[in-house]
Amino acid sequence: MSSSDTSEKRKIATKKLAVGMYVNLGKSWLHHSFLKPNFKITSESQIRKILKNGISEVTVDFSKSDLPAERDLARDVGITDKLAYIDDPQRGMDPPEHFNPVDLVSEALRETIENTSLPPQTKAKAVYDHSVNMMNSILEEPNAENILSGKKMIAATVDFILADEETAGYMSKITSHDYYTYTHSVNVGMLSILLAKQVFKGTYGTHNMRELGAGFFLHDLGKCDVPNSLINKAAPLNEVEWETMRNHPARGNQLLMEANQLSIECGLIVMQHHEREDGSGYPFGKLGDEIHIYGRICTIADVYDALTSTRAYKKKMAPFEALKVMKEEMLHHFHPELFGEFVQLFH
Ligand SMILES: [Fe+2]
Ligand SMILES: [Fe+2]
Repeated sequence: MSSSDTSEKRKIATKKLAVGMYVNLGKSWLHHSFLKPNFKITSESQIRKILKNGISEVTVDFSKSDLPAERDLARDVGITDKLAYIDDPQRGMDPPEHFNPVDLVSEALRETIENTSLPPQTKAKAVYDHSVNMMNSILEEPNAENILSGKKMIAATVDFILADEETAGYMSKITSHDYYTYTHSVNVGMLSILLAKQVFKGTYGTHNMRELGAGFFLHDLGKCDVPNSLINKAAPLNEVEWETMRNHPARGNQLLMEANQLSIECGLIVMQHHEREDGSGYPFGKLGDEIHIYGRICTIADVYDALTSTRAYKKKMAPFEALKVMKEEMLHHFHPELFGEFVQLFH
């Protein structure tokens, strides 16, 4: 490469990145823990994080960088005395086999929650996006390590929702309407925690809100084995397919038990979120008060999210429309007072 090279975008080995460079990671956010693939590097820890994400090369746009391309050229020909950080021994220390995507998004989420300079709306969206990223990783590989890391991150999110009134208020308005199990899990997780926060106000001490949050976020963990073609099937399910679908609460319960993470709260929510007040639900057809309040909370958020999401076979409903249908056509499925509290979340 010669000094006459004037192209502004160039592929650079991640180990050679410097603070001030504007990078494009070239991958969707599902593959890394950054919210955007394009950004200016503002700290050495960001470079380490790119390496930890397993990205060895990125595109640098020097027209948007704080340092000119010439500095990079100097480095390429060996003038590294002023750029000793290139050989920073800490870089790339973590071998790829220790790469844990859930831990990485946890770190990114914690940074977002602790960032006091973000406006509430931006923060709410950032916490939401990180949570979606986390749930995607857990559902792709629901092993004990990922479930445990996920629960720690959910605990941080729950603490944040309980403590930060302003940002939490935006949560009910930013949920994604494309239906994937991981977006659905986060939508239901967030809405259920907001409802629990309202219903249990002043009595948090008698409820383990972190475990409740874990149950809400992981309520459909057992769907990790259900093919997407079945989840999005427009036609009625045949007997075998229906059996697979009906089994997802028990499967989720089993996965949590195997991971040694099955609390009472998680068990009640995972097993009861498809039960209905009138006994028409599954897997046990429980009736009214036989269904625990934790399960009843999750049911309402679960149905609301299903109605307001786009599926292969139906359009999404607007929030107001969904609440109206739930009240006028489905109220026999829900605990009426809890449903009344749920409606209040949108006022
Ligand atoms: Fe479910
Ligand atoms: Fe669900």
